[in-house]
Amino acid sequence: MKNISIDNLNEVIENLIYLPLNISNPPEGCIDGIEEITDDMMKWDEFRSCNLIPLAIDYREKDVIEWVPKFIDKFPKLKTWLEQEVFTKVGFGRTLIIVTDPDETNAPHIDAAQDTFVGILNHKLRYVLQGNVSDLVFISKDNTTVIPEIDKPYIMNGKWPHMMHNTYDKRKYTLAIGAPWEPSIDDEQYRNLITDAYSKFNKNYIGSTGIELPENWKEMFEDYDKNKSNHVDAKNFIEKT
Ligand SMILES: [Fe+2]
Repeated sequence: MKNISIDNLNEVIENLIYLPLNISNPPEGCIDGIEEITDDMMKWDEFRSCNLIPLAIDYREKDVIEWVPKFIDKFPKLKTWLEQEVFTKVGFGRTLIIVTDPDETNAPHIDAAQDTFVGILNHKLRYVLQGNVSDLVFISKDNTTVIPEIDKPYIMNGKWPHMMHNTYDKRKYTLAIGAPWEPSIDDEQYRNLITDAYSKFNKNYIGSTGIELPENWKEMFEDYDKNKSNHVDAKNFIEKT
């Protein structure tokens, strides 16, 4: 990884909504057989209106991440890529596949707790394993921002309200890595990752400068009072299955 300096790196990180990463993609065929995982085997996320295939989560003890053998053992190539390209270079976090049926919509939401909105980046790593990358949109006051159709892992800001309508004619599978992975603006490894990504993909960078949050953004938190009842924790799911 080259260390090119970027004058406004703090601003790039703080305002980041979307940026592709200059790391390798998961290998071809790494989710072969995934269609055999039926809806009843997955965890339904009512808040985001999508299904989840948990690959590595802290279901026994909070913040202690463990593989979920019944799912990750089906995808050894993906597991190797996660270990070699993501966890060692980027960090270790809960890892899930978000599953959205054709023509279905993931509800508008924010992937951050209300009390982490100020001062915590809430950056998340995503990779679209199957489907259209550009079906993800960020919602702002006056319009929506569509992300470009670039086949690379990317960082998105979980604090910016977003939604997704799957226009692909098959299920959309999105690899999602988040908490307790929590990159910080002071983390040298993360600064290098963003520097490398921005050096290559600055033309595709989407930042929040000049766009405003929608009026109802506070209602899109999972821990907003009305949404709390929708939360199903992973521990219950794993223990039931
Ligand atoms: Fe999300």
